[in-house]
Amino acid sequence: MRVERHYASGLPLVPLDESLCEQAFLNLVQNAYEAMQDEDGGGTLRVEVQLITQNGREGVELRLADTGPGVPEELREEIFNPFVTTKKTGVGLGLSIVSKIVDGHHGSIHVENAPRGGAVFAIFFPLDETAEALKRVLGRARLQSCRKSLPF
Ligand SMILES: Nc1ncnc2c1ncn2[C@@H]1O[C@H](COP(=O)(O)OP(=O)(O)OP(=O)(O)O)[C@@H](O)[C@H]1O
Ligand SMILES: [Mg+2]
Repeated sequence: MRVERHYASGLPLVPLDESLCEQAFLNLVQNAYEAMQDEDGGGTLRVEVQLITQNGREGVELRLADTGPGVPEELREEIFNPFVTTKKTGVGLGLSIVSKIVDGHHGSIHVENAPRGGAVFAIFFPLDETAEALKRVLGRARLQSCRKSLPF
């Protein structure tokens, strides 16, 4: 699998739980890897991180775009629920865990298919609320930078 990184420069630090977010990103990367297994060279995973405003909230968006077959339209709502899987040996827990972790950061996640095919998972971490919410739950000590916790 080839990985292309496109990280915007001058990104702000995002307060988040490093180990939970690493778990979430790994689940997404694992899914992308599995979706592209039949491709020559294992396909390409494009990772983008940029500052955006969503519904009037400023935050950092992480987009993971793969070159696999994409997520069928009729499954798009369901895949974040536990035990939804199309894999022979899948449990269907990966994305439900991702979704819980993103919720815990007051963020949002959605999936779309790229015009040329392939799934695109987009996670939004708001800058305002996450800091306050996480400080309450974890205390300052565990607040980490988003960029540091990216496992690729
Ligand atoms: N990148 C992707 N491309 C295409 N389909 C995907 C992708 N990621 C997830 N899916 C679909 O969503 C389903 C649910 O994914 P999820 O990670 O929750 O479970 P799983 O990968 O099937 O099993 P587990 O993660 O528990 O091993 C998958 O079975 C697959 O159908
Ligand atoms: Mg999975």
